[in-house]
Amino acid sequence: MTSIKHVGVVGAGQMGRGITEVCARAGLHVTLCDVTEDRARAGLAGVADSLLRAEKRGALSSEERALALAGVTVGADLTRLSGADLVIEAAVEDGPAKTALFRRLDEVVADPAAVLASNTSSIPIARLAAATGRPEAVIGLHFFNPVPVMPLVEVIPSLRTSKDTEERVRAFATETLGKHTVVAADRAGFVVNSLLVPYLLAAVRMVASGTATAEDIDTGMTAGCAHPMGPLRLADLIGLDTVAAIGEALYEEHREPLYAPPPLLRRMVESGLLGRKSGQGFFSYRAA
Ligand SMILES: NC(=O)c1ccc[n+]([C@@H]2O[C@H](COP(=O)([O-])OP(=O)(O)OC[C@H]3O[C@@H](n4cnc5c(N)ncnc54)[C@H](O)[C@@H]3O)[C@@H](O)[C@H]2O)c1
Repeated sequence: MTSIKHVGVVGAGQMGRGITEVCARAGLHVTLCDVTEDRARAGLAGVADSLLRAEKRGALSSEERALALAGVTVGADLTRLSGADLVIEAAVEDGPAKTALFRRLDEVVADPAAVLASNTSSIPIARLAAATGRPEAVIGLHFFNPVPVMPLVEVIPSLRTSKDTEERVRAFATETLGKHTVVAADRAGFVVNSLLVPYLLAAVRMVASGTATAEDIDTGMTAGCAHPMGPLRLADLIGLDTVAAIGEALYEEHREPLYAPPPLLRRMVESGLLGRKSGQGFFSYRAA
């Protein structure tokens, strides 16, 4: 077992809520922070709803749900995290905002051995570590959405992360949270997005070039490769703006054309066709 008992989560959006839920269900004390008390409380309400749905599915008892919820406290003041053993930052994907947050976390988290982790998808861990006085204790911990469902966590040590920090967070993710981990170097995209995003972008290029319809491209991969979902429905699910943003970050880092978002994707984003969340992407999600 790891020595991590109190986890701080910064950012109460979809990822922060999911991370809070899995930590609370593992019996940890979780402090969830956001920029305002209202946002933090909205995050807690989201966690409570998700726990209730899990209870209705029979995944946990009402006592376990109550116990998990009782372990979560929320607020806007980061000094609440002073006693944390591990902080997982899941705030907005904005470099300067995250750097400022890491500088502040380094000030408020009292134990110098406490780990400061980021759920970033594309910002270099080295840059966040450099904002702190404890680069050896800074690491990437990249969860997948929805966190309670997806088993994978990517662990991203920077060039200055200590082996001890890496081993502590791997043990935390596997033993405490029951997740699978893979270790990836501190390069934009890590393992999964580096493989997935070029594939999604290639499917968009196929639509643009008229090789096949969106329906037939997806059927090719579901019926021909046994993928549970085709690339264009998956891109719609992730959000076409998010796919484009990750492609931009990968292209910025590697300068390889396969990562560059194609013009059709950019035009769809500019037109508000963002996929499932906007009701229309490569497919329609509006009620007929
Ligand atoms: N959405 C995904 O599928 C996914 C998957 C893996 C990783 N990520 C990463 O997780 C992080 C969060 O993504 P999300 O989808 O949950 O975003 P989101 O927009 O749902 O939530 C972000 C939250 O961060 C809060 N926030 C912004 N600045 C803050 C600050 N300074 N201090 C505290 N809270 C702050 C916002 O108020 C908001 O509640 C990003 O780094 C993203 O790249 C997202």
